[in-house]
Amino acid sequence: MASGPEPVIEPVIETRGLTKRYRGGQLAVDGLDLVVPRGSVFGFLGPNGSGKTTTIRMLMGLIEPTSGEARVLGEPMPRAGGRVLPRVGALIEGPALYGFLSGRDNLVRYDAADPTADPRTRAARVADALDRVGLAGAAGKKARAYSLGMKQRLGLAAALLQPRELLVLDEPTNGLDPQGMREIRALVRGLAAGGTTVFLSSHLLDEIEQVCSHAAVMARGRLLTQGTVADLASSTRGRLAVTTPDTADAVRVLKEHGVNDLAVADDRVTGELPTGTPPPDLADLNAALVRADVRVRSFGTERVSLEDAFVALTGEGFDVAG
Ligand SMILES: Nc1ncnc2c1ncn2[C@@H]1O[C@H](COP(=O)(O)OP(=O)(O)OP(=O)(O)O)[C@@H](O)[C@H]1O
Ligand SMILES: [Mg+2]
Repeated sequence: MASGPEPVIEPVIETRGLTKRYRGGQLAVDGLDLVVPRGSVFGFLGPNGSGKTTTIRMLMGLIEPTSGEARVLGEPMPRAGGRVLPRVGALIEGPALYGFLSGRDNLVRYDAADPTADPRTRAARVADALDRVGLAGAAGKKARAYSLGMKQRLGLAAALLQPRELLVLDEPTNGLDPQGMREIRALVRGLAAGGTTVFLSSHLLDEIEQVCSHAAVMARGRLLTQGTVADLASSTRGRLAVTTPDTADAVRVLKEHGVNDLAVADDRVTGELPTGTPPPDLADLNAALVRADVRVRSFGTERVSLEDAFVALTGEGFDVAG
């Protein structure tokens, strides 16, 4: 097989120094360099007010950046919006609805406003979108009688009326109950499996962990980090955790093998794994314990969550900036 350079797959979203200063001086997005790979489910994570919606509005050409560039599907935004936006499904904060129309008729109207939408397949596509977001049973109800979660589902249905290369969803599970959140996560996974790139914002860390392959973390308008979710979580290393009745011996043996910061709580010994290349083999550590007659009930590393990574990155909790 010919070995050449890997083909370069253009990112679906790419920004360089993207910056937005609102009138009144608020620097909402500050020099953002974002790269969203094709085929990813990309979580755009940050606390309230960190600049997620502002970024999404710039990506969709709804507001002009103060400086910097944004490319979506390889084209500059907002300049190429006319070509780009028909290929993108978007749900952006508080979808506009006609309260006097039913959910179904809102979608019909929305679809009719899209020059690329085929009117012959409209009714079927509307029914399918309602079904996918779990609104089929409430489709005939007036939108003004919809709950927040139902409105959110309807907004999502609008983004699903046509197959799209890219879905941009601003807090898609906002206002949904736990069951609704699970349904939306399943929907997003299904869309991604079908080849759609999904870019979704959230302030819920565990939501990002459950559904996303990649993530970027924002705080106060700045990008703290981006990459695969697995890399982000492993950038803060896990602690070793051993459950044993022989805690004193376990501490001694682990210390001899370079484990630091050892702590004992009841029958549980935890510690910081030694660094070094190659990293220590956990199997060797376990064998050393057993050789020293330490009776091991469980042995492993504690899972590091994205939340731990976030706290490690920011040195603070997941709070709104003042
Ligand atoms: N139209 C506006 N005019 C002035 N300032 C704004 C405007 N919209 C947002 N901001 C400010 O910009 C900052 C970022 O807001 P943005 O809505 O982008 O955050 P977010 O990450 O989407 O937050 P949330 O999680 O609450 O949706 C905030 O400090 C906000 O007060
Ligand atoms: Mg927002």
